[in-house]
Amino acid sequence: MRIEEMTKPELEAWGLELKKEYESYKAKNLKLNMARGKPSDTQLDLSVGMLNILNGDYIASDGTDVRNYGLLEGIPEARELFADILGTTADNVIIGGNSSLNIMFDTVSRAMFNGVLPGSTPWIKQGEIKFVCPAPGYDRHFTICEYFGIEMIKVDMLSDGPDMDQVESLVVADAAIKGIWCVPMYSNPDGITYSDAVVSRLAGMKTAAPDFRIFWDNAYCLHHLDKNDKAKLLNIYDVCKEMGNEDRVYMFSSTSKVTFPGAGISAIAASSANIAHTKNQLASQTISYNKIDQMAHCKFLRDIHGVNAHMEKHAVILKPKFDAVASILSKELADLGCASWTNPKGGYFISLNTLDGCAKRVVQLCKEVGVVLTGAGATYPYGKDPRDRNIRIAPSFPPLAELVMAMELLCLCVKMASVEKFLAG
Ligand SMILES: Cc1ncc(COP(=O)(O)O)c(C=O)c1O
Repeated sequence: MRIEEMTKPELEAWGLELKKEYESYKAKNLKLNMARGKPSDTQLDLSVGMLNILNGDYIASDGTDVRNYGLLEGIPEARELFADILGTTADNVIIGGNSSLNIMFDTVSRAMFNGVLPGSTPWIKQGEIKFVCPAPGYDRHFTICEYFGIEMIKVDMLSDGPDMDQVESLVVADAAIKGIWCVPMYSNPDGITYSDAVVSRLAGMKTAAPDFRIFWDNAYCLHHLDKNDKAKLLNIYDVCKEMGNEDRVYMFSSTSKVTFPGAGISAIAASSANIAHTKNQLASQTISYNKIDQMAHCKFLRDIHGVNAHMEKHAVILKPKFDAVASILSKELADLGCASWTNPKGGYFISLNTLDGCAKRVVQLCKEVGVVLTGAGATYPYGKDPRDRNIRIAPSFPPLAELVMAMELLCLCVKMASVEKFLAG
């Protein structure tokens, strides 16, 4: 029976039953965690072979000794690998350090202090600066905006990407809007992949700011759960180029969830003008990144085919976890009308929407029974989910048995919070 069809006595009786079950779990002093969007130990084990792979070979394909300074833009084979991953050419790629988030931060920072291209006015000298932030989204993108005092304008995520009617009407009208954050494939946290129409509209839309940039964080472009059912994403750089907006997009990715988070390699790809300007400024930041890691990654992963084969091994570990989450949500909540959720084909997260006003309460109930979830609101700019309904589920890290128990408890807490809401009127 759907919750809105229940009478008050029915709700009260059900609420008591749920509470009893909840108290029995409380007595178990559980310690479960579904907040960590990181690979499990079994996944990390897939890449240990990389740690000794250099085995005395330190010379990159162009003859550079990777142990020494040089090649700020990265070794050629790493640039080629990321060019294939991001759908561009090696000349348009710079390999960074261990974190794509770090490159995104630096890219915003360079635009703030130096402008996006030679001769363009630094954002910081243009008064108030704003970014469009599709939400729910990745909290650390929002943290970067907060750090630089960039005002965030929330737009809704729809089932095929950001609400482009909202985005277009915002960016055409306001020259202070300088950027948009996008996780275009298996987005964090919804697992949504942008449709061709959304990508084309982003690439072609009119912007009041001539120095507007799309921050295309393709963190999950390799992270399919089923090799026979992969989402497809249009190449935004190609479309930008066709539309005469070649400089509009910066693309980012990393091997954080391919090999080792925090110990992988990252990349930025963009137009030749953007890359040249970026490289010029990078030269003030560092002499060169860690090329030993770049070479180890290239030897271990070899090429895009090697990467895909490696990612299939991750999928074998991850898919049963995503399937378990989907099946428990469906079994426990499908008929009640008190939640909806996404069923992503890849990435690291599942997004759960409770009834309006219930997410914080669910997270709190979970915490009190020993289940840690990402804080409610974290997926929105300024940590404020206007409908207080979004909860990010991260199934990758806990072992399957723990994940199943945590999910059952989460569903119990969703039911409890929903009953409380209805009883409160
Ligand atoms: C969308 C997104 N971008 C970037 C990152 C971090 O990437 P990196 O480890 O390369 O900094 C994450 C990590 O969760 C993420 O979800």
